[in-house]
Amino acid sequence: MDNRPIGVFDSGLGGLTAVKQLLRQLPEEDIIYFGDTSRLPYGSRSRETIRRYAISDVNFLLSHNIKRIIVACGTVSAVALELLRERYRIPIQGVIDAAVPAAAAATKNGRIGVIGTAATVRSNAYAKLLATTAPSAETLAVACPLLVSLVENGRWSADDIVVKTVLNEYLAPILDFGADTLILGCTHYPLLADAIRTLTDGKLTLIDPGAEAAKCLAEQQLADGSKAESGRNGSLKLYVSDTDDGFAERARSFLDMDVTGLCQQVDIDRY
Ligand code: DGL
Repeated sequence: MDNRPIGVFDSGLGGLTAVKQLLRQLPEEDIIYFGDTSRLPYGSRSRETIRRYAISDVNFLLSHNIKRIIVACGTVSAVALELLRERYRIPIQGVIDAAVPAAAAATKNGRIGVIGTAATVRSNAYAKLLATTAPSAETLAVACPLLVSLVENGRWSADDIVVKTVLNEYLAPILDFGADTLILGCTHYPLLADAIRTLTDGKLTLIDPGAEAAKCLAEQQLADGSKAESGRNGSLKLYVSDTDDGFAERARSFLDMDVTGLCQQVDIDRY
């Protein structure tokens, strides 16, 4: 048994997809969430910059005496996960190794689409892992650089004309390819899941890597006995590196819970 918090980070709102699943599955756990809102988007930056950001994000979480980390960011998982695992002793769960087995299990026609940030698609991390996990599957990865800004601006409704236009353009090659399964390879994208389902007439099974990572973490805790005491009420603390600027309101809307007083600003340059 281990009552220390679980640390989760992303560049912004996206990692809340992992938090949502943790709250459902592990209500007894304390969660420390960091959204690096002053430095997002990560996905258009160089490998070196993303790695540097990831190190300071982990250093910040470690200052909270956490027991485990979820890198709830596809971009960091794609370009910095190995580095983080080499550098720190704490167990670190990424989103790619969690999402790929779920996609391999879900596909019926062996055609898996991946959408992600430019850095994630450039890294080929999804394609490489899919090639070993589901060798007979064919994959197509499409970079969707505009989607993170839409989500960070609270634009994720299926009725939003801008959302529809941008998604239609990005999803066209995935539909042409004949995918039956789509990995939402940037953790911001599950906030657009309803819009994607509507626009594709529900033809695609959507894989949410943040939620899959949270499920993996829950399994690991069960296996190594590091769950928090059962029956206790877990807590959530949200930290952002810029002024709140609507983050708490959007987090409330996505998590569907009252986050009043839970969100604080942190000076990430100190880490
Ligand atoms: N949500 C992150 C990801 O999964 C980062 C998006 C960004 O900041 O570009 O890739």
